[in-house]
Amino acid sequence: MIVRVPGDKSISQRALIMATLASGESRIRGLLPEGDPASTANALRRLGSHIPDLGKAGPEVTVEGLGLRGLRPPQAPLDLENSGTGARLLLGVLAGQHLEAVVTGDASLRKRPMARITDPLATMGARFEALEAAGRLPIKVRGGDLVPLSYRMPVASAQLKSALLLAGLVGGVEVDMVEPGRSRDHTERAFSGLGVPVVCGPADDGWSVQLTEPPTHLPPVDMEVPGDFSSAAFFVLFGLLGGAGEDLMIKGVGLNPTRIGLLPVLRRMGAEIEVEGTGATGEGEPMGDLLVRRSGLEAFSLVEKEVPGLIDEIPILAVGAARAQGVTRITGAKELRVKETDRISAMVKNLRALGIQVDELEDGMEIVGSDQPLRGRVETFGDHRIAMAFGVLGSLQGNEITVDRPEVASVSFPGFWGLLERAAEGQGGPKAQ
Ligand code: S3P
Repeated sequence: MIVRVPGDKSISQRALIMATLASGESRIRGLLPEGDPASTANALRRLGSHIPDLGKAGPEVTVEGLGLRGLRPPQAPLDLENSGTGARLLLGVLAGQHLEAVVTGDASLRKRPMARITDPLATMGARFEALEAAGRLPIKVRGGDLVPLSYRMPVASAQLKSALLLAGLVGGVEVDMVEPGRSRDHTERAFSGLGVPVVCGPADDGWSVQLTEPPTHLPPVDMEVPGDFSSAAFFVLFGLLGGAGEDLMIKGVGLNPTRIGLLPVLRRMGAEIEVEGTGATGEGEPMGDLLVRRSGLEAFSLVEKEVPGLIDEIPILAVGAARAQGVTRITGAKELRVKETDRISAMVKNLRALGIQVDELEDGMEIVGSDQPLRGRVETFGDHRIAMAFGVLGSLQGNEITVDRPEVASVSFPGFWGLLERAAEGQGGPKAQ
C-alpha cells in the first residue's frame, strides 16, 4: 500500500514568511494549504502580504514579496490561532519593522510561553507589552532599529532560533547563538538556499548558529515543500503495528536529518524501515520514501539529547511503547509540557484511560507495553498530535477507541482520518466521534 502525506507544516510557514520578505515573485509548490500555515498566511495578509487563498491557489503558490522591511501596520490583531511557529517567527519578523502590532492566538496558544522569544528580541531593541498575562499572548510589539545579538538559548527550540534569525535578517544585524541541543534547521537551510549564509557547528555545550552577513534584500523563494515527516510518523507506527496488513510505502517525505530522530529509536525497538532518498527540494531539504514492514517492537529508553530530533513524534512513539514488549522510559522531554497541550499529562491520562500502566515523570513517562485489546474514550485537549496518535492506536485490530475532537488533526494533517480509514480498510478501521 502506498500513501502520501501533506506538505511540511514547519517548512510551509517559513516559505510563506520568506516569500513575503523577499523582493520579487516567489513560487512555492507542495504547501500545506490548511491549518497552521493558513493561520500564518492570514496574519501575513494583514501585514500587506499578497499571499493568495491557499485553498484555491492550486499546486503552485506565487507571492509577490514586500521586501525585508516593507510590511504594513495591521488594522487588527494578528490571530495566529493554534500556530506556535507562526506566532513566534512573526514576533521575530515584527521586531525589525517600524510598526506596532498585536499578536494573539487561540486559548491553547495564549497559554504557551513567549518570554523565551520576547526577552532576547527586547535585548535587540524591540519593545513588547503582554496585554493580559506576563509572558503570554496577546502581546503588543513595537518594532524598530535593532542591534546585534550574542545569545545562549535556554532551550533547544527551532521556533526561538528562527525568530532570532529572522529578526537579524530584517534588522540587518548579526546574530550569534548557541542552542543547548540541535533543533530542526529549516530556517538555516532556507536562508542558505537564498544566498544568506548561516554558519553552524558544534560549540561548547551545544550547537552554534550565526548569521554573519545579513543581506540588504532577499531573492525570491523557489521551492518544493516535502511531505511532513511528523505526519508520516503516524503512518510509520501504523505500518509497524500491522495496521495496514501489508507493507506500507510512504512517498515524498522530508528527510531533513534534524527531523528524523524517530528512525534510529524505532530501529532500536526492532522496527524494519527502509529509507530511500529521492533527492533534495529547492532549498536543500532532502526528501525520500519510507518502506515500513510490520515488526515486533521492544521497549526502549529515550534520553534528553535525542529529544530535539523527535520532539513532535513523542505522542506516537508513546503509542508504540504501549504496544511494545517491556517497559519504556522516556526522559528529558519536559518541553512536551508546553506544546499545543501538556503532552506528557495528555498521553498519561489517555493511555491510563485505556488500561495501559503508565507512570508520569516530570520530564517524561514510563509505559508498560501490553498486547491486550484497548477500549475507551480519549481526550485530545485540542491537540492535533494527541488526536492522531490515538487515531492510529484505535485503528489497530481489536482496539475500539473514541477520540473526542478528531477534527483538530487538520492543524497539521488535513485528510488524516480519511487516509487512515482507507489504509486500515479490512483491518477494523478507526472510530472517531
Ligand atoms: C517547530 C519547532 C518545534 C516543534 C513545532 C514546530 C518549528 O517547536 O515542536 O511543532 O516549526 O520550528 P520548538 O521550537 O518549541 O521546539
